[in-house]
Amino acid sequence: MTDQKIYQASTTAPVNIAVVKYWGKRDPKLNLPTNSSVSVTLSQADLRTHTTAACSASFGPEDSLLLNSSPQDVSGARTQACFRELRSLRTALEASDSSLPKIATLPLRIVSENNFPTAAGLASSAAGFAALVRAIANLYELPASPTELSRIARQGSGSACRSLFGGYVAWQMGEKDDGADSLAVQVAPASHWPTMRALILVVSAEKKGVSSTSGMQITVSTSKLFKRRAEIVVPESMLLMEKAIKKKDFQSFGEVTMRESNSFHATCLDTFPPIFYLNDVSRAAIRVVEDINKKAGKIIAAYTFDAGPNAVIYYEEENTDAVAGVLNGALNGLDGWQARDIKSQDSSDLDARAVQVLKDGVSRVILTSVGEGPIRTEESLIDAAGAPVKK
Ligand code: DP6
Repeated sequence: MTDQKIYQASTTAPVNIAVVKYWGKRDPKLNLPTNSSVSVTLSQADLRTHTTAACSASFGPEDSLLLNSSPQDVSGARTQACFRELRSLRTALEASDSSLPKIATLPLRIVSENNFPTAAGLASSAAGFAALVRAIANLYELPASPTELSRIARQGSGSACRSLFGGYVAWQMGEKDDGADSLAVQVAPASHWPTMRALILVVSAEKKGVSSTSGMQITVSTSKLFKRRAEIVVPESMLLMEKAIKKKDFQSFGEVTMRESNSFHATCLDTFPPIFYLNDVSRAAIRVVEDINKKAGKIIAAYTFDAGPNAVIYYEEENTDAVAGVLNGALNGLDGWQARDIKSQDSSDLDARAVQVLKDGVSRVILTSVGEGPIRTEESLIDAAGAPVKK
């Protein structure tokens, strides 16, 4: 009789929001980028994917993945690449130590849950692939470091490679054709600059229009601005950003963050036909951040936008009243302010028309902060009989 034992391991993994943006692939199959990038990992208390990976001879015959209770297609090249790479590391481990159970070829059953809306432009694929790779690496008891695992997670979704670390993370683009040097490294742990806060204005919880995967492909092939961004703008941003993080210099961090977002969206506009991720609500968010900074006489708040209209606003804890408090004053009544004890402040310095656009267009706010990388957990989403745990 074959061994019907169920092996399993679980993890949670965070979302990250880039402050130097990844946009463009030099190799779409391996997800090798045209430029390096930097992100801030956000706290898993507010945004995370929880994943259990299990394998057993009693499963299958196919590998399977359940996300928020709905079955996902795992036959895509990206998921397959992650499974293949992790299995090959496990196979090598089993070959080097004959006492290890032979589990590399057993069917995988993966169960995942997000504590936030999937594909709302909240970097769910980053947390999702980071959790998938970390959970299977735990299941296979691989000795691989987060940087080694980042090479695998990158093949699932580029930005996922940065979610294997907490704090401030760089994805070094690398030069090799096989992607062996296109890896994530930690610039600084969360504890180095723990006062970093993020306020997310959720503009729409609907699925986004042009996916980042196809959007960046069209940008690479049609935008004339793009080459300059990849070759000149980003290398400069990378140097400035890493220095700003090391020195905990918010002035510089904020300026580079905003310029980077603007530069990325400029190349989207320069894509032919153009791609519009920012909408009127996004532009109103930019306006109120400018008003907040003008009042402070320096940069205390920094906006950034990914492939969708949601605004992520970074600020330091000491400026909670002047940033989150003032926005609460303007957008009081929205869901999400209760999560942290934000006191509503006078918002009369904000442009009244921009405030009205935000009131009409923002569905909720998420208050969060810089946070830790993937965390192993004993809380399993698969029961002893191998069935998904009902929540
Ligand atoms: C705008 O990582 O989602 O959020 O590699 O095709 O899965 P794929 O793309 P993805 O792109 C993220 C783009 C971005 C910027 C960033 O996170 O750096």
